[in-house]
Amino acid sequence: MSASDVRPDNAGAARPAGTVTPTRGGVGLLSFKGLRAKATLYVLLLLVATVVVSYVITIRILNSHIKGEIVKRAESLSRSIASSAGYDLILKDLLALDNMVFKIKESNPDITSIAILSTDRTIVVHSDAGRTGSRLAPEAGRVVFEEADGTRLLEGAAPAGASFAIESRIVFMEKDLGSVLLNVEWSVLLAAQTEARHKVIPVFAVILVLGLASSIAVSSRLTRPVKELATGVEELKRGQRSKPLRVYSDDELGRLTSSFNEMSSLITGQREKLGQYAHELEEAYVSTVRVLAAAIEARDRYTLGHSTRVAQYAVELARELGLSPEQVEEIEIACLFHDVGKIRIPDSILHKKGRLNPHEFKEMRNHSAYGAEILSKARSLYKYIPAVRHHHEWHDGTGYPDGLSRESIPEEAAIISLADAFDAMTSDRPYRQALTIESALDIIRASAGKQFNPEFARVFLDLNEKQGPAVAVAAEPRMAS
Ligand SMILES: [Fe+2]
Repeated sequence: MSASDVRPDNAGAARPAGTVTPTRGGVGLLSFKGLRAKATLYVLLLLVATVVVSYVITIRILNSHIKGEIVKRAESLSRSIASSAGYDLILKDLLALDNMVFKIKESNPDITSIAILSTDRTIVVHSDAGRTGSRLAPEAGRVVFEEADGTRLLEGAAPAGASFAIESRIVFMEKDLGSVLLNVEWSVLLAAQTEARHKVIPVFAVILVLGLASSIAVSSRLTRPVKELATGVEELKRGQRSKPLRVYSDDELGRLTSSFNEMSSLITGQREKLGQYAHELEEAYVSTVRVLAAAIEARDRYTLGHSTRVAQYAVELARELGLSPEQVEEIEIACLFHDVGKIRIPDSILHKKGRLNPHEFKEMRNHSAYGAEILSKARSLYKYIPAVRHHHEWHDGTGYPDGLSRESIPEEAAIISLADAFDAMTSDRPYRQALTIESALDIIRASAGKQFNPEFARVFLDLNEKQGPAVAVAAEPRMAS
């Protein structure tokens, strides 16, 4: 006998229309990550602009302040010299004046020159001794301001723009004796401003860094509810949402999150109910088909208990192959359905004593397609269609109904094919006695790579060798289709 006598079948491999295919899309999380990045960028740009403007304003204020301080100091020095020089001028004590000018010049290196002028602007004493006695040309500089006591600030004296001068009147006993002219280089101001800038830059750098960190933290805090909301929508779409989202505030976003939680709860509840209804419906349909399968088997004493035994072998093989518990369960149910198409096979063929003629054999082979057709009436049973339709396909492509081969044969169909053939061979048939288990296993061994998936056949044989009694008990000679 050949295992081909018990070619199981499979129907419509094509997935029925309406099969739910998980898709990814919709509101991508990336766009919300982008939202945070954008918020951070905007805040950062605003921060940098603010810091730069603040820096420029601060530096300008500092420069103005430094300039004012330098001028005030020069004024103070000039007035001090003027008040001290009056008495010596009256006495014409040039040595004392020269000594004073020399000491002041030495202790104030930023002062370029100090000159004591007579009323006709003759240089009486000068820090540059070589210029004593000469007359000073009328000042070329612009008078910036003049105080009530005659002290005035001159800018733009030669070299133009490089220095400024403070001139204070020397008045003694209400007599105008001349003036003190004090020159200061602007480079002093620049050095002071540079020093101030060097002190200010680190402060602004720290502000910038702190601002950067704050902007990231603020952006993250502001966009976190939006991100979580987007994640919640994605999870809800995939049916994964279980916990309500955290409501961070009572503003519009908080109310939106609350509304989402309510909606999520409602949808989850409805989904669970629908799932429960679908499960109950599936259970009811499975029960109906089981009854149908049992009725078919009951029509023929040779096939009584066949589906249950096939399920037992197939489950053991599927577990040994490492399939998931869900896959094993699906295979078990598919086994119960695998010959349901025989309901459409006339009794004259199904119960015929002896071998079938070609026409009858052809009709008998239609049972796998008939079974797939029956299962296609209920969406919840679509998943069993590949196993039922293709449980009579051969590994070498010579099976039916579609002549699939090798990997194109659904895994569950190939498993059921082995279990179905084994049970059929070890059961009595109208036209022959059951084979012994050893003979059936020998045939399976010989048919590996032809009728059966070689890997599955090897595992099935190993399983029988390893758990011989477990399979063999169920495989006591009996009658099967
Ligand atoms: Fe079959």
